Amino acid sequence: MEPTDAAALIERAREALDAAYVPYSEYQVGAAVLTADGEVFTGCNVENANYSNALHAEEVAVGSAVRAGHRSITAVAVTSGERDGVTPCGMCRQTLAEFGDDDVPVYCDTGDGEWNEYTLGELIPDTITPGMLGIDPDAA
Ligand code: THU
Ligand code: ZN
Repeated sequence: MEPTDAAALIERAREALDAAYVPYSEYQVGAAVLTADGEVFTGCNVENANYSNALHAEEVAVGSAVRAGHRSITAVAVTSGERDGVTPCGMCRQTLAEFGDDDVPVYCDTGDGEWNEYTLGELIPDTITPGMLGIDPDAA
């Protein structure tokens, strides 16, 4: 993906920020996932009075993509707006890895028009895979 495409995906993630429901942490997160056939799905975090029930922005974006029938993710963007330092948490890395290969780029907005770029394999090497469980998800 070209840098301009990265910026465009981050922009889509930023569009989700205002919808974030974050009365507890007041930390808005937006995510966008690009699917293999070029569609973009976004998500925001959705918190809960039972703190541990929070839905993460990446989970919401992945869930939205899967609901629409997409099971291959080819790029990811995550933002917390003007705040620097956001990256997908460990749980979200595993969720993304279910649908994305090791070489999928993950763009983490630094809040100033720039981004840090990682690959999914860098963020979560040696992830557990369906194959390790002897399962072919496409056959399910
Ligand atoms: N959060 C996400 O939405 N994605 C992540 O991977 C990191 C954390 C949210 C959860 C919570 O609503 C807030 O950020 C503070 O942790
Ligand atoms: Zn997370």
